[in-house]
Amino acid sequence: MMMLTMYKIFETVDEVSRYTAQRLLEKIQTAPKAVLGLATGSTMEPVYAQLLDDMQHSPTDVSQLTTFNLDEYIGLSAEHPQSYNFYMYQHLFNHLHLPAANVHLPDGLAHSIDQACQAYSAAIQAMGGLDLQLLGIGSNGHIGFNEPHTCFNSRTHVVELSEQTRIDNGRFFTNQNETPTHAITMGILDILEAKEIILVATGANKTNIMAQLFESAIDESLPASALKQHPNLTIVMDREAAALLPKQAYKNAV
Ligand code: F6R
Repeated sequence: MMMLTMYKIFETVDEVSRYTAQRLLEKIQTAPKAVLGLATGSTMEPVYAQLLDDMQHSPTDVSQLTTFNLDEYIGLSAEHPQSYNFYMYQHLFNHLHLPAANVHLPDGLAHSIDQACQAYSAAIQAMGGLDLQLLGIGSNGHIGFNEPHTCFNSRTHVVELSEQTRIDNGRFFTNQNETPTHAITMGILDILEAKEIILVATGANKTNIMAQLFESAIDESLPASALKQHPNLTIVMDREAAALLPKQAYKNAV
């Protein structure tokens, strides 16, 4: 398999978001039945805002689009303001008006959680897999909530969040005790099977991990390194996130 990683490095978060939103819009416009894998988090907020803005100027039919979100906290309902379900409606779905049946998020309150996990990966496969997966990255290299040492063959599963992730995400909760300890996440294999992947990293909190990712071999201690096997990966960064990348990374960057 030919490996191809394209680096796109921009000065500002605004430019990163414009580029990423444009890629999403192009995908939706050229493939109206596309299956998109979506992420939450601070990185994606300006991306979704930009996508909605772009759609104002370029009306786009989303009636046949399907989405699968990467992850959800266990124990938080869809109405909880820190749930990823809530986030997605707030930042995208309340404005985009996809048919409700086309929107998929892991259920953090599922009774038979293992069954719900299996059904989630099966539903992605039943749709023919993900056409485009949008990813952020944790400061510890996680993708989705696949923490370091997650098996690269994993499907949707329950994870115990690492201390680092609970500290990073604690900023959204009133105190650290409220930060959930577990989550459901799409597995690394589910992600790798996407036909196209865009990983977005912005800000100083991502500088170290992006340098590590660039240098790293493909190794389960750094979940995002699994992406290095992917034939169609774009890594989009602002200058801050890319600050410690060696010069050779910039060769391909536009
Ligand atoms: C969120 C997700 C996570 C985030 C990552 C970065 O759905 O899958 O992997 O992308 O934790 O989060 P931010 O963007 O808040 O730095």
